[in-house]
Amino acid sequence: MTHALGGTLAAAPDPLVVDLGFGATPVTTVEMAARLATCRRDLRVVGLEIDPDRVAEALPSARPPMLEFARGGFELAGLAPVVVRAMNVLRQYDERAVASAWSTMAATGALVVEGTCDEIGRRACWFLLRDGRPKSLTFSAHLPSLGRPSELAERLPKALIEHNVPGTPIHALLADLDAAWAAAAGRGVFGARQRWIATVEALVAAGRWPVLGGVRRWRLGELTVTWPSEGA
Ligand SMILES: C[S@@+](CC[C@H](N)C(=O)[O-])C[C@H]1O[C@@H](n2cnc3c(N)ncnc32)[C@H](O)[C@@H]1O
Repeated sequence: MTHALGGTLAAAPDPLVVDLGFGATPVTTVEMAARLATCRRDLRVVGLEIDPDRVAEALPSARPPMLEFARGGFELAGLAPVVVRAMNVLRQYDERAVASAWSTMAATGALVVEGTCDEIGRRACWFLLRDGRPKSLTFSAHLPSLGRPSELAERLPKALIEHNVPGTPIHALLADLDAAWAAAAGRGVFGARQRWIATVEALVAAGRWPVLGGVRRWRLGELTVTWPSEGA
């Protein structure tokens, strides 16, 4: 988020960020606030939860006005944040709820990072939404433990996870990544990071997918593509 949205936050008149559905403990909100404060010292973060007990338990971690917690859902409690993070929230919902959740959050004017990760953060996939629609899709993996890129499929955002079947763009993209990863096995002698970089370079060279960013992100185990994309 500091990389992709730091410029937006730095330029915002009121740099407010919401962590929606922060969960059983506010640890992700606290860490996000610390990281984003490197973009801008006057940045404020509000953790919102639909569960009032979780809000009450988070209150001792509040550091107002920079870090606060409150009850709220997709309407964002009437706040007008520049950026919202909603990780591992929509995964609990039926897919039919996704479009309305996206448009409700978009009504506040916020950019939204919406996706899913595994419990210890080694596999993550998220959309960047603008005006309630995806603009990009990012994959992020802990490379030393990655068997093959399609392992990320288990952590696709709700809008994609049930569509990862042959004939769909997401299935084609993961298949292309697996093929490139297999072809880059030789680079694995230099480590998983080098193998991932070679994999993404091959994807770029094939020209089928609109890969965003550069090697500084790939070396972290990330890949971002414009989304939606047909992989034409
Ligand atoms: C699995 S936890 C995610 C915690 C944290 N975001 C993370 O990724 O580690 C999902 C949380 O979302 C909350 N939640 C579900 N629907 C919500 C909604 N519409 N608005 C706010 N929070 C919601 C749940 O109460 C739960 O605490």
